[in-house]
Amino acid sequence: MITDRSYAVEPWCVRETHLDLDVLAQSESVFALSNGHVGWRGNLDEGEPHGLPGSYLNGVHELHPLPYAEAGYGYPESGQTVINVTNGKILRLLVDDEPFDLRYGRLESHERVLDLRRGVLERTCEWTSPAGSTVRVRSTRLVSLTQRAIGAVAYEVEAVGSRSRVVIQSELVANESLPEPNGDPRAARALKSPLEPEEDVAVGNRLRLVHRTKRSGLRVAVAADHTVTGPERTTTSSESNADLARLTVTSVLEPGEQLRVEKLVAHGWSGARSRPAMSDQVEAALAAAGHSGWQGLLDDQRTYLDDFWARADVEVDGDEEIQQAVRFALFHVLQAGARAEQRAIPAKGLTGSGYDGHAFWDTETFVLPLLTYTAPEAVSEALRWRKNTLDAARERAAQLGLSGAAFPWRTIEGSEGSAYWPAGTAAFHVNADIADAVVRYVAATGDTDFERDTGVELLVETARLWRSLGHHDAHGTFHIDGVTGPDEYSAVADDNTYTNLMARANLLAAADVVERHPEEPAALGVDAEESAAWRDAAAAVHIPYNDELGVHEQHAGFTRYQRWDFSGTRPDQYPLLLHFPYFDLYRKQVVKQADLVLAMYTCGSFFDEEQIARNFAYYEPLTVRDSSLSACCQAVVAAQAGHMRLAYDYTAEAALMDLADLEHNTRDGLHIASLAGTWMALVAGFGGLRRDGDSLRFAPRLPEMFSRLAFSVQLLGRRLHVEVGPDKATYTLLSGPPLTISHHGTPVSLNGDGPAVRTVPPVPQRPSPEQPPHRRPGAR
Ligand code: BGC
Repeated sequence: MITDRSYAVEPWCVRETHLDLDVLAQSESVFALSNGHVGWRGNLDEGEPHGLPGSYLNGVHELHPLPYAEAGYGYPESGQTVINVTNGKILRLLVDDEPFDLRYGRLESHERVLDLRRGVLERTCEWTSPAGSTVRVRSTRLVSLTQRAIGAVAYEVEAVGSRSRVVIQSELVANESLPEPNGDPRAARALKSPLEPEEDVAVGNRLRLVHRTKRSGLRVAVAADHTVTGPERTTTSSESNADLARLTVTSVLEPGEQLRVEKLVAHGWSGARSRPAMSDQVEAALAAAGHSGWQGLLDDQRTYLDDFWARADVEVDGDEEIQQAVRFALFHVLQAGARAEQRAIPAKGLTGSGYDGHAFWDTETFVLPLLTYTAPEAVSEALRWRKNTLDAARERAAQLGLSGAAFPWRTIEGSEGSAYWPAGTAAFHVNADIADAVVRYVAATGDTDFERDTGVELLVETARLWRSLGHHDAHGTFHIDGVTGPDEYSAVADDNTYTNLMARANLLAAADVVERHPEEPAALGVDAEESAAWRDAAAAVHIPYNDELGVHEQHAGFTRYQRWDFSGTRPDQYPLLLHFPYFDLYRKQVVKQADLVLAMYTCGSFFDEEQIARNFAYYEPLTVRDSSLSACCQAVVAAQAGHMRLAYDYTAEAALMDLADLEHNTRDGLHIASLAGTWMALVAGFGGLRRDGDSLRFAPRLPEMFSRLAFSVQLLGRRLHVEVGPDKATYTLLSGPPLTISHHGTPVSLNGDGPAVRTVPPVPQRPSPEQPPHRRPGAR
């Protein structure tokens, strides 16, 4: 765990000023570079020491049998695990007779900087070998956002004080040995040597390795090319064998002289293409990158990010740490989704192997809202991935005796990867979350082509699922029994409010889309009777309510359960899932993560302000936040209910989840949903952003620690800038046709002639709710 501040607080970068080997694995996640297709953990250039070596290609996984002590019908038989592919970022260094290894000798200085505007990781260090030779090493690394196959490193060594003989070995390494798993069920199973060699080539400065996974049959090709600059006496040679290709660069440096290697690395994978085709593919990608050159790649990266920041930046005055953290969050969420291109956006992005590299509902509910309003092209790609996996989802529904499509709870390639069905298969809400993401994207972009070619099928098949999963009782009320909502400390429960409200929206959205695009649904066999049945079910959905307490139930009967013994639970017994049986968690009132509280955000129009305040006060003392997905949701609803200080503390928790390693597992990869949740806490919490059909509502209010919050959203071809101060909010239409939004319930017309300024009403005063003992968010 990162105990003291590891990173300097600066607005546009994350700077580590000294190397702490105890938190190396965490820093590798924090400094990971990715474009959604290729992911490189922030491992040190020379490969060792390392916490967890990691190079990932989105979608490249291996299959493994899922063992069950007692198997049952419909249990998934095969699991999927992300694998560490060929590592192209390694550059080893020998100084005189000593390997440059920071565990030995004397580290005079070591600094790494993740530059959020340039999209590069920079490292500078000065090291004296055990024999007394001093060198300065500088490296700059990027994973290109404009050329999706490409990663690149510029590595420079300088002799300091005396003449040094230096050797740089630039390598491609397959089947790196990985540390043993740490026993945390949330970490990945490390598959030993998952890649079988097919081709190794080293010609001049060019290297190439082609491998294939054993069971999933995916071919992985990685190639590198180098430009070497150094004194005249510099020589190079290259060689390769099955799992290693190496360029060796040797030189003698006088004090002040430098040896520089620019390394371009191209990655490709396919389940279909032949070995020669894959070799050609990576060679072609290298040629394209070489055409841009190192400087060209740097310039393109900057241009790409300038454009992103112009659309997505969130400015926070009054808390520099949150300012830095929200930019760090935006950067990593962009990295996770930017070039995923019809592949999943995993819960850890491509920053680590935690959760086996699986994607969950985290994508649609946490990541896609941010991207919808800042980088919408990534959203259509992510949802097209879901569409591409529809066949597997239809098969799963049929296997379960249901209609339509049942999307997996966790997956890489589309089939269900959860071996624990009470919190896997039964978490059907993922289907409504996908539908919600479709509706949100179409409302924000007006992309009717997408709606027709992708949205219709997703909405129809998920509506069919709900219609078959639920049933009308003798009074006509529609129930969805035996499902698991977002809170994984309750399972297989009847009428989960979140699920029911989201399913209701899903059913209505499907019925609406059928009216807008009659042809495609007809081809899917939808008739008037079917869509009328969706509307009937939606109109009759049961939402459980406890009249005595005056609160909504998380699921039917929840408020009758015994309360968890919070006062008898020690601080070191959190997260509860690692210390208590699910059996006991399921039958008590204890909430892992926002569930009913999340429903009040995603389906806010169902609740009035008083209900929101009452429900929030009821669920706060039960919610232990054992999931990193919770704090951001609680921040949004706390802000709405007027608990500004609490909302601020929750925002900080979401924002600092990884920079401060709050859940002690950043080593396994970043918490992408919590990072995206930082945006949600600021923009939906303090900005009060809510969807309202095709328009947006805002209800901004700042906590007293902030003097200003500013953000932009893209909506239907417009760019809207919102700036909030303690007393007033300013709305400016930066581009696009006139637009009407709402400010605290009052319409505001914006026409581009100038900003509209509105007064921020006072915060409603309510007693601050309690949290379970030891689970209050850290006060700042
Ligand atoms: C949470 C899930 C989440 C998963 C991946 C679990 O701990 O309870 O809601 O989808 O982590 O982030």
